[in-house]
Amino acid sequence: MQEIYLDNAATTPMSAGVVKVMTGEMEHDFGNASSTHAIGRQARQTVERARKLIADSINADPDGIIFTSGGSESNNTALMEVARSRQQVGKRIITTKIEHPSILNPLKRLAQEGFDIVYLDVDQSGHISLDQLKKALTPETILVSIMAVNNEVGSIMPLAEIGKLVRPTQAYFHVDAVQGLGNIDLDVQAMQIDLLSTSAHKINGPKFLGFLYENPNLSLPSFVLGGEQEHKRRAGTENVPAIAGFGEAVRELGEIDKTALQAKYQKFQTLILSQLKKAQIEFDVNGSLTGPVSHHVLNLSFPGISTYVLLTRLDLAGFAVSGGSACTAGSLTPSHVLAAMYGADSPRLGDSIRISFGRFTTQAEVAAFAQALSKLVAELQSK
Ligand SMILES: Cc1ncc(COP(=O)(O)O)c(C=O)c1O
Repeated sequence: MQEIYLDNAATTPMSAGVVKVMTGEMEHDFGNASSTHAIGRQARQTVERARKLIADSINADPDGIIFTSGGSESNNTALMEVARSRQQVGKRIITTKIEHPSILNPLKRLAQEGFDIVYLDVDQSGHISLDQLKKALTPETILVSIMAVNNEVGSIMPLAEIGKLVRPTQAYFHVDAVQGLGNIDLDVQAMQIDLLSTSAHKINGPKFLGFLYENPNLSLPSFVLGGEQEHKRRAGTENVPAIAGFGEAVRELGEIDKTALQAKYQKFQTLILSQLKKAQIEFDVNGSLTGPVSHHVLNLSFPGISTYVLLTRLDLAGFAVSGGSACTAGSLTPSHVLAAMYGADSPRLGDSIRISFGRFTTQAEVAAFAQALSKLVAELQSK
């Protein structure tokens, strides 16, 4: 049975170009980038080439790019470093209710340590109110951490406007851009972003690699102590093939027109929605289909059908989608994102699925999925 993969917000397949670059690196470039001999210098060149490419893609200084094991490490590091090094200045941190667990869980820990965490509300399209942020920004605020694009409903946050509000204060502005990279334009200077987290496996690159951008002027303390790698900011021998693969994934992204990609995803959304309407299926869209949203995610609620049952039936039929965030180790805990948008009692928490598209998703795959989904839901709703 052919599997059709529509869970690209969870992870993406590596592109052929990335596999080729990484294979070449593994075969020929095994050096330690810290060694001073020719083989080490070659590895160092590979790392620095990728760093420059990646920095250029977000208009950052290459010295601010620190390679990490991915989005979770970058998020944890950004929060913990800023909190611990600035607690004399203030203890307030502002975030939203719909962040990824790799933001929410470290913040829970910081709350236990006495930090004052403010969680901004979101409306039913998954967006914050800038007014609420303005009111929450007190002189004690040391950090504002807000995601670029939500991983469950695709809402895009107004980063430039947030940057403008935060810059005159003493707070730093951190962005979890894991779902933003590749889907929206990111410019740390224009958006006045101080720290930014990403992950390679969401953009057809390798797993367990990402970067944390930190404005070099912040001079934050080191977070993994040991050798002098990553400007003494994160010790450990660099994974040269994976870094080269991340560089290639970012280079490939640079050749893709993001507007055209979003238009393609929007067409996929329309295809699924019109098929469901044609089959007279009862459903609701979670979040918004228009306005500031990334169309790579489509989150749908099917009244009366449990997420678990629908996911299992789709899986058996060869379709890989998810029940929200996949990052809670395969568990189907009710979505905190939908709870923030619709209330903790909303039936949507138990009857929704997330479909997500990627660069390599084809119209034929989406058409086959739309057919199978409407047939399955019709059958389950008639019971
Ligand atoms: C918005 C967001 N932040 C952070 C992460 C964690 O990234 P990683 O899997 O690289 O640790 C994810 C992964 O799903 C995500 O969607």
